[in-house]
Amino acid sequence: MSTFLEHQNWRYATKKFDTTKKIATEDLNILKEAIRLSSSSYGLQPYKVIIVENPELRAQLQPAAWGQSQIVEASHLIIFANETNIGDDAIDSFLKNISATRSTPLEDLSGYGDIMKSNISKLTSEAKNIWTAKQTYLALGNLLNAAAELRIDVTPMEGFLPAQVNEILGLDKLGLNACLMATLGYRHIEDATQHYKKVRKSTEELFITL
Ligand SMILES: Cc1cc2nc3c(=O)[nH]c(=O)nc-3n(C[C@H](O)[C@H](O)[C@H](O)COP(=O)(O)O)c2cc1C
Repeated sequence: MSTFLEHQNWRYATKKFDTTKKIATEDLNILKEAIRLSSSSYGLQPYKVIIVENPELRAQLQPAAWGQSQIVEASHLIIFANETNIGDDAIDSFLKNISATRSTPLEDLSGYGDIMKSNISKLTSEAKNIWTAKQTYLALGNLLNAAAELRIDVTPMEGFLPAQVNEILGLDKLGLNACLMATLGYRHIEDATQHYKKVRKSTEELFITL
């Protein structure tokens, strides 16, 4: 079997973490880099990734996440927060980054900038939010894959109330919205879920070949 598929079969959404095990800084840095390198539409990365280390903050966040124990028991909690007001400023800053990174004159990028600005400005505020939130799922996917290779467990989590999380972390003021969470660490030996068989659609059911 390919190593990639072996990792996929090893990983599962962990329900109970071992509170005695912490992710080493070196491994955390690899995971952060996997998130940073994630693909996004146009390359805009319209989100922030918040790593909550403060235990008091995590205890405050737990009730906003249906009391799920992973929020306080995992080694690390990551919150993906999409930009709520994406517009010309974000695009200009992206263009400056391309120009500096690739030593390309800013003027040469104006056509690309105009396309992005025109397409994004046509979206309603709700559509912009949905679109920026979608980009975070790609980063989550990369995080899941990178972590599995390092034998680090990750639980992707949508089971929380964004409004409450935004309030606790003051995200509204920053033009951000908590749309996705991930808890990271090491599975507890008593987490029965690790022994469950994977439930997935069959290849025949999932794929359509035309
Ligand atoms: C976007 C997303 C949100 C999820 N939210 C939660 C959650 O809030 N709590 C939880 O325990 N599991 C959550 N899960 C885990 C899924 O239930 C789990 O990934 C799915 O059942 C497949 O099982 P596996 O990941 O263990 O293979 C979430 C998964 C995804 C991808």
